[in-house]
Amino acid sequence: MQEKLQALADSLIAGRSLGAEGFGYLLENRTPQLAQALAKAAVAVRQKIYGRAVYVRGLIEISNICKNDCLYCGIRASNKNCQRYRLGPEEILACADEGYRLGFRTFVLQGGEDAYYTDELLAGLIGALKGKYPDCAVTLSLGERSYESYKALKGAGADRYLLRHETADKAHYESLHPPAMSFENRMRCLRELRGLGYQVGCGFMVGSPGQTAQTLAKDLQFIAEFKPDMCGIGPFVPHADTVFAKEPAGTVELTCFLLSVIRLLHPPVLLPATTALGTIHPEGREMGILSGANVVMPNLSPVSVREKYALYDNKICTGEESAQCKDCLSRRMRSIGYEIVTDRGDVKAGEAL
Ligand code: 5AD
Ligand code: FES
Repeated sequence: MQEKLQALADSLIAGRSLGAEGFGYLLENRTPQLAQALAKAAVAVRQKIYGRAVYVRGLIEISNICKNDCLYCGIRASNKNCQRYRLGPEEILACADEGYRLGFRTFVLQGGEDAYYTDELLAGLIGALKGKYPDCAVTLSLGERSYESYKALKGAGADRYLLRHETADKAHYESLHPPAMSFENRMRCLRELRGLGYQVGCGFMVGSPGQTAQTLAKDLQFIAEFKPDMCGIGPFVPHADTVFAKEPAGTVELTCFLLSVIRLLHPPVLLPATTALGTIHPEGREMGILSGANVVMPNLSPVSVREKYALYDNKICTGEESAQCKDCLSRRMRSIGYEIVTDRGDVKAGEAL
């Protein structure tokens, strides 16, 4: 391997961050050989903390109604071809019941920014979930809300919050979002969630329009500094009814490379092999795990709504029942020598290293 690349790889493997210039160089000059070396090191680091466990989180897609108009997203407000739905508290609890029966101990409630879900409604729902299943973690992924709202939901018992930062470059952020959304507000949300004691997940799409080695370098620096408990990264996949319909999808290769880098940068991070990665390659999720990921998120939503929750085209798992989805993932993980575990799987301290 070229000398400078080798030195950067050695630094990362030794647990040092690289700085914007170093990350940029690493990304622009990466080779299959480098990717292999980083994946091997990432798997070894994860193995020390988490062994061969892959954590499962049951994903409940509660609503595709969204007031935002993110340029990349299939459920953006201006998409008139999207058949809208929302699940009421009873339907959400029924999904969780099924999930609990299947062994899930983390429920992720994800949805668009839908004003139907007031703080009162959500607090009641979270209270009901935690009352019924005190051994479960409740994760919310409901977009940008006020400090008071995040506080109320934490008070009601929510444990974790997923809010991808989408890109750590302000100009790039603005090119992916309408003027009504701001990079500052996104970062405000992440800081406040952290301050309130949530376990926090950030993340970004790989290959989003306008992304460069330099914007990705900023994402990596942000992750190195923010040290999220979780980090969701998956390829951008175009959706036919969005501005970015004709843009190319992100690649498996770059997504897996970044999974390895992020594992090395922040060893204890919970890192999902995402559905989007499984969508662009039939073995995408397996490849993600073999690059350093350690979480999968099978779909627990009612089968009748899964097609409608289309953030991007050709999403997988839309025809399967929850039990089938879980069994499918168990089989897939076993086929590469990993075991899915259904306990809460809280983030482990890096000191285990
Ligand atoms: N391709 C891939 N991921 C997408 N997301 C939204 N639209 C797309 C798309 N077209 C991701 C965003 C969001 C998460 C819930 O899904 O990063 O934060
Ligand atoms: Fe859903 Fe395979 S994980 S069908």
